[in-house]
Amino acid sequence: MNLLDGKKCADSLIAGIAKQVARHVDFGLRKPHMTVVLVGNHAPSESYVKSKVTTCTLSGFESNLIRLPETVTEKELLWLIQQINADASTDGVIVQLPLPKQINAQRVINAIAPEKDIDGFHPTNFGRMALGQKAFRPATAYGICKLLQFYQVPVAGKHCVVIGRSNIVGKPISIMLSNDFDIGNATVTLTHIETPRELLLDETRRADIVIVAVGIPGFVTPDMVKDGVTLIDVGINRLENGKLVGDVDFAAVAPKCEWITPVPGGVGRMTVAALMINTLMAYQNNFELA
Ligand code: GUN
Repeated sequence: MNLLDGKKCADSLIAGIAKQVARHVDFGLRKPHMTVVLVGNHAPSESYVKSKVTTCTLSGFESNLIRLPETVTEKELLWLIQQINADASTDGVIVQLPLPKQINAQRVINAIAPEKDIDGFHPTNFGRMALGQKAFRPATAYGICKLLQFYQVPVAGKHCVVIGRSNIVGKPISIMLSNDFDIGNATVTLTHIETPRELLLDETRRADIVIVAVGIPGFVTPDMVKDGVTLIDVGINRLENGKLVGDVDFAAVAPKCEWITPVPGGVGRMTVAALMINTLMAYQNNFELA
């Protein structure tokens, strides 16, 4: 069993980004700038946002966090996004999800200028990504690709099973790994909550790579995978005792794995690192450096 160490990979990527930023700044340009919008005080979102802001500093970026009350209206949030879109000093913006019930998240995402959409959630970026064109790629999916690349895990020609069809993770990673990208050319099966249990097991038991993003602690058990599998655990679940665990029963499944991501210190770290790559790209696009 080998660990896919997200912290090690992310640290290496961030050091590379910081070097590029230092070169741009030495040349007389301003730093890249990320704006983060956080609505309410959902505990996991607070923690993700904190990590994004801290990593901006480590990358040599400026950042600002705009906090809005849980009761904000969709109209007010859309107005704020228009201001950020028009602000030339911001290269990229993220609106942390989930949003409160009174707000239609897709309408908010659609309002973000595609050239500032570093989450890669806008239909323009998602569509361009799906077509294999240059785009901001959704950060978690992109981070998983970067992690597989860093550890030189073979992907092309492999059978990959994705569990969970969210717009944020399952859908984009299934497209990216099946596309003719540098990390791609896999044969991908996308399974989800409506997949019958027997069919799910048929698929996962013969998969070379399993990616799970369902938000259920211990969902993947040893009987579901074959020996030598590569297991990517996207889950970040807080147990009642305060412990952070993924969607995989790590202690039981790890001995069967060739490669496995830990939680914490796996995909979560890579999501933030990929967001930094996207922000640097937005900045370089602005200054026509790319
Ligand atoms: N909530 C959970 N994951 C994400 C993410 O990647 N981006 C944003 N904006 N919100 C999230």
